[in-house]
Amino acid sequence: MAEFRTPIGTRDILPPESARWELLLARFARIVEAAGYGLVISPMFEDVEVFQRVGESTDVVRKEMYQFTDKGGRELALRPEGTASIVRAFVQHRPPTPWKTWYAAPSFRYERAQAGRYRQHHQGGIEVLGTDDPDVDVEVIALAWEFFASVGLRLVTLKVNSLGDATCRPVYREALRAFLEARQDQLCDEHRTRWEENPLRVLDCKKPECVAATADAPHQLDFLCDACAPHFARVKDGLAALGIPYVVDARLVRGLDYYTRTTFEFASRALESAQNALGGGGRYDGLVEEMGGPPTPGIGFGIGLDRTLLACNDEGVMRIEDLSPRLDVFVVDFAGGDGARDITFRLRSAGLRADRAFGGRSPKSQLKSADRSGARLALIIGPDEVAAGQVAIKDLRAEPGTPQHVVARDALIDEIRRRLVSDASTVGPVSNLES
Ligand code: HAM
Repeated sequence: MAEFRTPIGTRDILPPESARWELLLARFARIVEAAGYGLVISPMFEDVEVFQRVGESTDVVRKEMYQFTDKGGRELALRPEGTASIVRAFVQHRPPTPWKTWYAAPSFRYERAQAGRYRQHHQGGIEVLGTDDPDVDVEVIALAWEFFASVGLRLVTLKVNSLGDATCRPVYREALRAFLEARQDQLCDEHRTRWEENPLRVLDCKKPECVAATADAPHQLDFLCDACAPHFARVKDGLAALGIPYVVDARLVRGLDYYTRTTFEFASRALESAQNALGGGGRYDGLVEEMGGPPTPGIGFGIGLDRTLLACNDEGVMRIEDLSPRLDVFVVDFAGGDGARDITFRLRSAGLRADRAFGGRSPKSQLKSADRSGARLALIIGPDEVAAGQVAIKDLRAEPGTPQHVVARDALIDEIRRRLVSDASTVGPVSNLES
């Protein structure tokens, strides 16, 4: 028999690790919803042309797309990133602006799989369509910053740049083109032939030949026009006003072609440099029009949730051990099982988190399951308790030998609640990391 495994570059995320994902997503949702962003759930696949709009000369489109023809002959692709789908949805539905959206979804790129680089990765992102106010750039960056801070990451560097607009980008592009033309022989194999197609891509190339050849290349920042320069200045002022530290990185061009003006990236100083980008984003003021909509500016970011958790591992934050137990109560029944069946149902209906053993196992084995479950309390139902209409409560964190407390079935739920509130970390939120 073949032994099936996850495809290369994909993973199963199992409990208890999956609890960290739930917490991360809940944290992300809480932060962006509190700032007025609404969830958009778009299809996992779209017309391939939707994604081609993110840049014909990018690796994401040229080399990494999961593209297929469906049984009706349509050319489709799995989503490689979130922005194109949101822009397509905006053009299709024309919601009132500013349209402030968020999403959390898997993305698919046929990349060389390695630690921190997957073929299915997960992004949490936001996109704002319909305003070119530089203060929205600050808001977007600040929300990502707040998210990283809220999970406890401290070793995060914010890099910002401006890529200009339709006025100043062509002037800069020409300067860069002339610069590269004189050095084309020094570029890597790929860019020696392709540099002219999109000269900016050469600045994003990580090959040592391209890095060396472009060390003193001209920067867009020196070419910003009368509209882009004050825009960028206002973004930097805003970040400073909010106390968000940043560095200006004039070489930051990002891996997708739609960017205009503000671009930014968050890098973890705790991770290997090749996979240290935790998230990134920027403006894409021409993308809605390119997708067939009216001229509409846009800005957003995508945060790599897989990498964020890797950075958490390296910084020792959001640890599984620090998540509070998912259960309040574990029901142990060695008197036939009616009690476990009925009481577990009552506990859950009363809003308590309860589990139980099945299969009529021995008291010892059921108590072992209770211990492993992480629940604070075990309820014990034996023949004596059944006869007396009572239940024994055992505090699973008490010193060994601490006597069990016996209560009447009618008083059980109140007694459990009383005991749980006396230890506040086990009630309410999923985790004691949830603040
Ligand atoms: P991106 O920089 O291509 O931007 O991806 C965003 C983040 O997703 C990266 O910083 C990284 O953390 C994570 N990521 C990307 N590829 C992988 C991978 N193969 N394995 C693990 N993590 C990965 C975008 O996708 C843009 N849509 C961001 C954006 C939103 N720009 C404007 N709005």
